[in-house]
Amino acid sequence: MKITVVGAGAVGASCAEYIAIKNFASEVVLLDIKEGYAEGKAMDLMQCASLNGFDTKITGVTNDYTQTAGSDIAVITSGIPRKPGMTREELIGINAGIVKTVSSNLIKHSPKVTLIVVSNPMDTMTYLVHKTTGLPKNKIIGMGGALDSARFKYRLAEALGAPISDVDGMVIGGHSDTGMVPLISHATRNSIKVSEFLSSDRLEQVSEDTKVGGATLTKLLGTSAWYAPGAAVSALVQAIACDQRKLFPCSTFLEGEYGLNDICIGVPVILGKNGIEKIIDIPLSSAEKTKMKESAIGVTNTNNLLTL
Ligand code: 2OP
Repeated sequence: MKITVVGAGAVGASCAEYIAIKNFASEVVLLDIKEGYAEGKAMDLMQCASLNGFDTKITGVTNDYTQTAGSDIAVITSGIPRKPGMTREELIGINAGIVKTVSSNLIKHSPKVTLIVVSNPMDTMTYLVHKTTGLPKNKIIGMGGALDSARFKYRLAEALGAPISDVDGMVIGGHSDTGMVPLISHATRNSIKVSEFLSSDRLEQVSEDTKVGGATLTKLLGTSAWYAPGAAVSALVQAIACDQRKLFPCSTFLEGEYGLNDICIGVPVILGKNGIEKIIDIPLSSAEKTKMKESAIGVTNTNNLLTL
């Protein structure tokens, strides 16, 4: 199993590290445009192999896509991260061109690749890849909901005073500070609805804290987060690579599902060897349905800024 990660910045390198530590891939190619940068990160990571007990071979290359040939899965993290106070949508001007070039280069050398898009604004970048590469829609996956759900579970556990292993929850909709839809109606503490433990006001605060989870970290760090984004995308890679048929919220191209068309946005999907194996239709409360529609309007407005 060969995995390529484009972008050896904090998110890409974290993703490569988590993939290696999980030890399911034979090879990870880490590619960056900055001379020697991916080579250095790969060598540093390989020097952890004996300590972290993995046999995955991590190779760093500088902008040489021939080295990515035959990749089964490729992760696109390249582009600029946001600074404090910025929205993800403000990155479109620079990142759209980068993502278009990177996805085209990847497919040239790996025509059967499954692409996972991380670069922001992620839903719009996923849509761009769908519209420009011609890859089947099941092979184009946007990573946002897995990260947002992890932040949702973190905030729920905090509010409940519970271990995170007791908590389950999912965030769908756009991966944006205003467009995320944390599914309070489906969230549980060990199979019991969280509304049995927390007031609606407290749950509303959990939702709001979840939606700005990325911005909160960017304010603290001065740049976008990387550990949880890297861990989230490595979980998607593993589900595909190992044909786990796990259910994640992922951004995918919709053709009528959830009443939405011609958009990539976060919905529950089953991930397996074919990428997106199935889109899962779940019941939403009327408030959640309204929020999903509003979220789709926001994503479409950003999509309309693209020059395809
Ligand atoms: C985040 O929310 C980078 O969009 C990513 O941290």
